[in-house]
Amino acid sequence: MELREKKPLCDIDVQSDISPEDEAILAPPAEQAGEPSSPQQPQKAVEQYSYLQRDQSEDSPSNNKAAISSGRHSSLATPAVRGLLKEFGVNIVEVLGTGKDGRVLKEDVHNFAASRAIESAKPPQATSTRPSSGADQGQVEKSITLTPIQNQMFKTMTRSLTIPHFLYADEIDVTPLSTLRHRLNTQSGKQHKLSFLHFIIKAVSLAIEDFPLLNARVEAASNGDAPKLVMREKHNIGIAMDTPQGLLVPNVKHVSSKSILDIALECSRLQALAKDGKLPVADLTGGTITVSNIGSIGGTYVAPVLVQKEVAILGVGKARTVPAFNEQGQVIKKDVMNFSWSADHRVIDGATMARMAEHVRAFVEEPGLMMARLR
Ligand code: COA
Repeated sequence: MELREKKPLCDIDVQSDISPEDEAILAPPAEQAGEPSSPQQPQKAVEQYSYLQRDQSEDSPSNNKAAISSGRHSSLATPAVRGLLKEFGVNIVEVLGTGKDGRVLKEDVHNFAASRAIESAKPPQATSTRPSSGADQGQVEKSITLTPIQNQMFKTMTRSLTIPHFLYADEIDVTPLSTLRHRLNTQSGKQHKLSFLHFIIKAVSLAIEDFPLLNARVEAASNGDAPKLVMREKHNIGIAMDTPQGLLVPNVKHVSSKSILDIALECSRLQALAKDGKLPVADLTGGTITVSNIGSIGGTYVAPVLVQKEVAILGVGKARTVPAFNEQGQVIKKDVMNFSWSADHRVIDGATMARMAEHVRAFVEEPGLMMARLR
């Protein structure tokens, strides 16, 4: 006899104890939802269930109830799993099943029990809450007024993002700088501690001497006038500071006339004032370019947003030790940092930014070069 079609002889369902509750769930859709029954329906339900599962993976177990009830196979389980459900006191319809057709597996019960324990350990929040009016009816939302600094950030950052930014990033070898910094800090003790940031600020200022455009500001067109670039002589380098009140950007004035130690002292003064919420307007205004050292907190890369009246900002990532090859091809340890520049693409092109960034890199990678340029 010739076999024309390879069809299975029979299907074996390993589900051994389908409860009346399961029967109800497995009933044809028309009986439950009043929809016309079709052979496509069960598959659709499973797809819908998978989507909800992805979408709500970060929600608390209790928030998942509504989603789970839409999966018709999700409350099927083997006797072993049912035993586990009983042991943990868990209702099967609350558990997201990851087995075939949404069946609940042992690990699903364990995961649910673990996340329920975490949820119940959280302290209750005394807040004014209201149910969401949107599509997610299970959500609870709370309105909080912005702090004065957030309010300011809201306005300035919204304005800043109307400027076409571009990002330029590179990896800098800070091994020699780490060694130098360590040596200087060991000698001077805690009194005049130098951080990477102080050297970077000086390097930016030295590079601006060759690329003054990066210290300029744009005067936008008004009354039909053409837009202008306003060149600035003084390098007032802003430092993005994480303060108890939020993000503040005071600036170190006249960096080109300061030594690295002067910069360190000025940064300490600004940090102390920022910590106490006492930065005067004079320290917060007049910046010409900014350095944001997010690496002192963490993070390898950052896409910094331009500060008003500036055309470039440098984001500094966390220094980390990596393996590298030396010129002889041997593996050595290197300390590296990522520098991420954002620039105003209306007036700064990529090549100019790259050249300026290469100058800063040269100074930071070889601090001796910086010394040679100090007055
Ligand atoms: N990678 C690794 N370590 C770094 C680092 C970096 N990029 N920058 C600083 N550190 C180290 C310092 O060397 C110091 O370590 P040490 O005590 O072993 O020498 C430690 O981190 C603390 O440095 P800190 O006192 O913060 O000094 P700083 O001069 O480097 O930075 C501020 C000062 C104000 C910039 C910083 O405290 C800060 O607020 N950073 C966050 C900026 C921010 O929020 N940017 C985002 C804006 S969107």
